[in-house]
Amino acid sequence: MIDIHCHILPDIDDGARDLETAIRMCHLAQANGIKHIVATPHTNTVDNIDHFIKTRDERLQLLRKHIADRGIDIKLYPGAEVFVDDDIFFANDLKCLTINGSRYILIEFNFRNVHLRKIYDYLNEIIDMGLVPIIAHPERYEFFQFDYDAVNSLAKNGVIFQINATSLASLDGLQEFELAYSMAYNGLASLIGTDAHSLSHRATNLSEMMRYFPPDISQYNMQMMVHDSAKAVLTDNPIPMAERREIHKRGSF
Ligand SMILES: [Fe+2]
Repeated sequence: MIDIHCHILPDIDDGARDLETAIRMCHLAQANGIKHIVATPHTNTVDNIDHFIKTRDERLQLLRKHIADRGIDIKLYPGAEVFVDDDIFFANDLKCLTINGSRYILIEFNFRNVHLRKIYDYLNEIIDMGLVPIIAHPERYEFFQFDYDAVNSLAKNGVIFQINATSLASLDGLQEFELAYSMAYNGLASLIGTDAHSLSHRATNLSEMMRYFPPDISQYNMQMMVHDSAKAVLTDNPIPMAERREIHKRGSF
C-alpha cells in the first residue's frame, strides 16, 4: 500500500517529533502493509519555500538512511501539505511543492472563516498553473460536510480528493465519517492517507484501521485508493477514473 499523506519527517512540523519517533512510525507502517510513504510536512509561508525544501530534503535523506540501516523496507518520497490562502499565490512557483515532482499538489485550507467561493478561486488558480490539486481530508471541512454538491462539482472539474483513514474508520466525528464513507463508496475519493503525526495521533497503522472501514466499500475502490491512484500520483500519470456516482447527504435527495 502507499501512504500519500504522512507527517513522517522528524522535527520539521507538528508530525514526528524526533528521528526515533519517525523510525518507529516507519516500522509501524511496514507492519501495516505500507511500502511507500510520501512525506508531506505542512508548509504555510511563501517567504521560506527554499528553506522548507532544503530542510525537508535533508530530513528525507536522514530518515532514508536510518530506516535502510534497520532493514525497514519502505520507500520515502518528497511532498508537502500546502496551506492555501491568498498569500501562497505570491510564491513564484508552487511546482517545487508537488508530490515527488509530479503535477499533483496536496493542499489544505483554513478550517474556519473561509467561504466556498474562495476555495473555488484558489483551486482555479492552481489548475491554471498546470497543477492538479489534491484536497487533503475534505471530510474534515464544514463547508463540505454540509454541501455535498460542492464535492460533486469539484470532482467533475478535475479536483482530486484524499480522505483520511481515521475518518473512514470512524475514529473522528460522525460528519467526517459520513462524508468520507460516501466519497469512498461512490468513487469520489481517489486516495486514502493516514495523515499520521505520531505513533498515537493518526498513526501509520493502516491495515489495523482498515478493519474498521465499512465492509461494503468495493474491493475495486479500496485498491484504487490505497494503491493504484497513489501510484499514478507518484509516477506523474493520470489517475485512473473509478466509476463515480454523485454523493448526497443522508436525509437529502
Ligand atoms: Fe496532514
